[in-house]
Amino acid sequence: MSRVLVTRHLPAGGIEALLAAGHEVIQRDDDVVFTPDELRTAIADVDALVCLLTDQVDAALLDAGGTRLKVVANVAVGFNNIDVAAATDRGIAVCNTPGVLDETTADLAFLLMLAAARLASDAERDLRTGVWDGWEVTEYLGLDVHGATLGIVGYGRIGKAVARRAAGFGMSVIHHTRTDTGLPGWTPDLDHLCATADFVSLHVPLTPETTHLVDARRLALMKPSAILVNTARGPVVDEAALADALHAGTIFAAGLDVYEQEPIIHERLLTAPRTVLLPHIGSASVATRTRMATLACEGVVAVLAGERPPNLVNP
Ligand code: DGY
Repeated sequence: MSRVLVTRHLPAGGIEALLAAGHEVIQRDDDVVFTPDELRTAIADVDALVCLLTDQVDAALLDAGGTRLKVVANVAVGFNNIDVAAATDRGIAVCNTPGVLDETTADLAFLLMLAAARLASDAERDLRTGVWDGWEVTEYLGLDVHGATLGIVGYGRIGKAVARRAAGFGMSVIHHTRTDTGLPGWTPDLDHLCATADFVSLHVPLTPETTHLVDARRLALMKPSAILVNTARGPVVDEAALADALHAGTIFAAGLDVYEQEPIIHERLLTAPRTVLLPHIGSASVATRTRMATLACEGVVAVLAGERPPNLVNP
C-alpha cells in the first residue's frame, strides 16, 4: 500500500481508483488550500501527489518529496504548473488528463463565441439591473456566428472539437499550427489567420513560445468586427493589450475563460465593452471533472504498480 496526497477534494468517485488499488489517500477534511510551505511538509512522506492546476509543483516541492515521491498527477490536461523537466531529472512521473475534457471545453469555447457575438453578458446585465425597458429595434445588435470564418489557433483534440461544432453553424474554418496538419484550412501564417478570421479561438498549451502569442501587434491585425475567444491559458493573450483593443473598439468583442494571473482579472478587462468573462470553467461539467479526477488517479495507480500510464507527460 502506498500513500497518496490529494491536495483538494475531488468530484464524487474521483479517487475511487486509488482506494480500489488499496492505497491510502491523504486529504484535508476541510478542503483548505495548502500553502506552499504546508505542501512541502505534507509531500515529505508520500509516494504520489494528485494536484490541481492551481498547485505550483516546482523543483523545491519535488525535492521536498525526496526519493519516495514517484508520481505527480495533475487533474487537468494543461500542466504548465508543473516543472516537468525537474520531475524527469528526479525520475518522477508526471500524468495529466488528455482526451476526457475535449468536448466539454469545446462546448464552452462555442458558448463564449455565441455570447460575445450576441452581446449576451451586456444584455443580461441590463435586464438584471433594470436598465432594459422594452424591445428596441436597434438595441443589442451583435454579429452572426453562422456563416462566419473561424480561425482556430492550435489544432489538437480541443481545436478539432471546436471545428466540428463550427460545421453545424455553416462556418468556414481555418487553423494554424506550426507544423502542417495536412488538413484542409491549415495556414502556417498566424498573422494571416488573425487578419482574415471573424472569430479567433485559442487552443494552444502555455509554453514560452505561446506566451503573449496574441499581443498588441496581432490584435491590431484583427478586423474591427473580430471576436477573440480564449479557453486555453491566460498568458497566451497580452491582457493589457486586449483591454486596450476592446476599449478602443479596434476589435468587436472577446470571450475569456482564462486569465494571466488567476484569480486576478485585469481591471480594464472588467470594464471593457462587449466582453464575456467566465471563471475558468471550460471543463466544468460533473461528468468531465469526474473523468479528469479518475484519469489522474488511474495514472498514479499505474505508476505505483510499475506500469507506464497512457497519460504520461514526461518525454
Ligand atoms: C485543463 O485541464 O488544463 C483546464 O484548463 C481545466 O480543465
